[in-house]
Amino acid sequence: MNLETARSRAEELKQQIARADHRYYVLDDPELTDAEYDVLVRELQALEGDFPALRTADSPTARVAGAPSEKFRPVTHRVPMLSLSNAFSDEELVEFDTRVHKVLGPEEVTYVCEPKLDGLAVELTYVDGQLVEGATRGDGNVGEDVTANLRTIRVVPLALRRPADGPPAPPRFEVRGEVFLRRADFARLNARREKEGEPLYVNPRNTAAGSLRQLDPAITAARPLSFFAYELGGWGDDAGTGPFTRHTEKLAWLAAAGCPVNPENRRVQGLEGVRAAYGDFLARRHALAYDVDGMVVKLDGEDARRRLGQVSRSPRWAVAYKFAPEEARTKVESIEVNVGRTGALTPVAFLTPVQVGGVTVSRATLHNPLELKRKDVRVGDQVFVRRAGDVIPEIVKVIDSVRTGDEQEYVFPERCPVCGAAAVMDEDGAILRCTGLDCPAQLQARLQHFASRGGMDIEGLGDKLAEQLVESGQVKRAADLYRLDLPTLTGLERMGEKSAQNFLAALERSKHPPLRRFLYALGIRHVGEATARALADHFKDVRALYDADVEALTRVKDVGPEMAKVIGGFFAEEKNREGVEALLAAGVSPQPPEDTSRGPFAGKTVVLTGTLGALTREQAKEEVERRGGKVSGSVSRKTDFVVAGEESGSKLKKAAELGVRVLDERAFLDLLAAAS
Ligand code: IVH
Repeated sequence: MNLETARSRAEELKQQIARADHRYYVLDDPELTDAEYDVLVRELQALEGDFPALRTADSPTARVAGAPSEKFRPVTHRVPMLSLSNAFSDEELVEFDTRVHKVLGPEEVTYVCEPKLDGLAVELTYVDGQLVEGATRGDGNVGEDVTANLRTIRVVPLALRRPADGPPAPPRFEVRGEVFLRRADFARLNARREKEGEPLYVNPRNTAAGSLRQLDPAITAARPLSFFAYELGGWGDDAGTGPFTRHTEKLAWLAAAGCPVNPENRRVQGLEGVRAAYGDFLARRHALAYDVDGMVVKLDGEDARRRLGQVSRSPRWAVAYKFAPEEARTKVESIEVNVGRTGALTPVAFLTPVQVGGVTVSRATLHNPLELKRKDVRVGDQVFVRRAGDVIPEIVKVIDSVRTGDEQEYVFPERCPVCGAAAVMDEDGAILRCTGLDCPAQLQARLQHFASRGGMDIEGLGDKLAEQLVESGQVKRAADLYRLDLPTLTGLERMGEKSAQNFLAALERSKHPPLRRFLYALGIRHVGEATARALADHFKDVRALYDADVEALTRVKDVGPEMAKVIGGFFAEEKNREGVEALLAAGVSPQPPEDTSRGPFAGKTVVLTGTLGALTREQAKEEVERRGGKVSGSVSRKTDFVVAGEESGSKLKKAAELGVRVLDERAFLDLLAAAS
């Protein structure tokens, strides 16, 4: 590429980035996803790297992000707030680690891995232990004075304690961290907005940023913001980080002083340790209470940090190792309705296929007619889709600024597209339901639910096979599945002998499910996996549910009167009891729940610390809970065991202090095996 081509491309990119910044920061109405934005910035950075002549003062790469708004008094950061360079793949992580070793030599280094919180960076200034000022990062040099707003956040300490150990605080120092919204708080906030008829917020990050940058602190106060501290700005007259020799020491000091510090942060050894932490965070991404878009990898040693220094606006001692984005932009090609197992006609958007969260997405649910109307999704629209973990992809928002006028509103059908019976809308317009009693779509969906992983876990009952079995009349209820044989299956179109045998084997394997999965598989309205588990624990046998009345059912954990009525109604219906009996007669034998009132973990409180080789933390937790134990996050006198993996830190020390029994991984696994 020559300079002229590069220049014109750079100009184009600058304009696109400026437009995106304006929509994001000023209008609070983004039209690019974060990932798309990153791609533009990275391309521009690369061009400027190849052609330094293009690096101008007005380039968006010349500032960290977000020019401070004139609404707030500007605050100059005593020590500039840097940003992080990103790694998007294992190769880029290796490049980072290689750069680190180039400076520090070949010895193994200690890193700290922290969830990359998806919020807004702030700096809190403490003078004589009191919070005197709080500012956003702004462009890294100058931020916005949002002191009054930060003071409304419950977890932001207005005064810091003097920690018993560690150095005394200097007269003035700065704490840096992230303001963010927990997902549950975000959901509650949106539920309230919906009730009040206000437009819904798009995601926790934008909402956190918007909430903090309010002129009226009363508005901020009404938003349940959270905060975690993760660095120091300056320490007394020292622009560095004072007397601390390690980042983890600094974090421990901050925690002891009363600052919330993320308990998920962990110290690891070398590249392998970083990879393991990344795998673990990625697996538990949705189990965390807040959105994270990656993991920050930092050197632990302060001296090592000083030796690495910084390039342009980012330190060379840290990198943000990003997760695959969970939001993407695409186009709605068409909208159709899908008939569910209760006969509800759910609108589904068919999309131009796009990569989201590591998989290709080509459809997204629109939930129900009300939701479709509220989001005003039209055929031809550009939309943001989101897919978080195993959750069904969903349309977050229409990008209406790019509508052309050719978009088509969707009109709901008057008849069920599968059986042709009338489709009726309930009073509040939230559910459109097929009135066909024998609608095969309902049966097909019920069968697929029956076979799903949380249910009977019958591998191989996909859309196609379920449809064929229903259409051919071979299966009229779930129990009929267990009467299928090889000739019948191979008689179906496109069913080979091998697949037929596999499917029969899968059916055979499914015959002894835990009772909770059997109850879930029945597809009783409102009975999700948690309720099914509670019912199983309480009744221990499906037949015990036949005569359970509303009163008996409300005694089950978390079952309210509404749900009790539905569950009671289900088993009161003779046809449903017959369906269950037919399953039992076909050889299905649900297993009663295990007795968790005995064994080494029964009723015990366990604390997990460090990394285990054989299990992730989530798996270890599940194993303990299955055996009637409880997992807690912190060690106290009530703790029965501490399970210590590699790299266990302060919790182990605490256990020793309190005389709590400590198990290493081997002992823990042995005890699990003994109790299963
Ligand atoms: S450290 C120079 N730690 O990511 C290092 N940042 O582009 C300064 N962030 O502005 C940041 N979680 O808003 C750090 N555990 C964490 C973080 C974190 C989220 C954000 C922060 C920062 C941006 C980096």
